[in-house]
Amino acid sequence: MERDIKKQLLALLEWYKEAGITFYFKNVEIPRTSIDKADKKDKVKQKEDKVESKEELLEKIRNEALSCKKCELYKTRKNLVFGEGNPNAKIMFIGEAPGREEDEQGRPFVGQAGQHLTKLIEFIGLKREEVYIANVLKCRPPNNRNPLPQEIEACKDFLFRQISIINPKIICTLGTFSTQLLLLNNRIQITRVRGNLLKGWKNYMVFPTFHPSYLLRNPGSKKTAIEDFKKIKEILEELD
Ligand code: URA
Repeated sequence: MERDIKKQLLALLEWYKEAGITFYFKNVEIPRTSIDKADKKDKVKQKEDKVESKEELLEKIRNEALSCKKCELYKTRKNLVFGEGNPNAKIMFIGEAPGREEDEQGRPFVGQAGQHLTKLIEFIGLKREEVYIANVLKCRPPNNRNPLPQEIEACKDFLFRQISIINPKIICTLGTFSTQLLLLNNRIQITRVRGNLLKGWKNYMVFPTFHPSYLLRNPGSKKTAIEDFKKIKEILEELD
């Protein structure tokens, strides 16, 4: 009997609430009703419906990378070097790993090799801000040593997700490590494949060329690099 009265009272309260009449019940705790649940559902749906921008999606990945501890490099880096540029870039340039200057500034290719890369990008009529630049590794290996296979394995998903969001028409891989990763073949030699447009990870068009640091150490190869960049220009023009 008592239970029935309680039930009826709650039903009445719910009816009042649905009708928007709440001022009689200032101090009455009304249990969760179907309206509350519907409100909650609506909010969840609104959140699901909101399309996140490329910038927001990239920022999410950046935050994940910031707290990543999948390899040891987070312990010795100064800054995460996530990547930067136009999220709608037609072309992405992918290097190996941050060096000293990049680690200091938290930006890719800002040291000597970076200046060289910037010149090559400008040579084909583009600005740095128009392209997207990233690396295979997001943290600097101590003393600029080569990335270890397990570091590449631990980090590659961040790069793959960046690529999927930016969805470039062409990916220019700089040097051995990014070329091997994007062509899914860790035996490939850069000297054999550079200057060619090849199908790589998820059928993305991959154009390997020398790493800018290699060009600094081997100035004789600059001419070849310029030829490669001329080809990149032609490919981009054809894609327009
Ligand atoms: N070398 C790279 O591979 N990446 C950089 O960001 C700088 C130098």
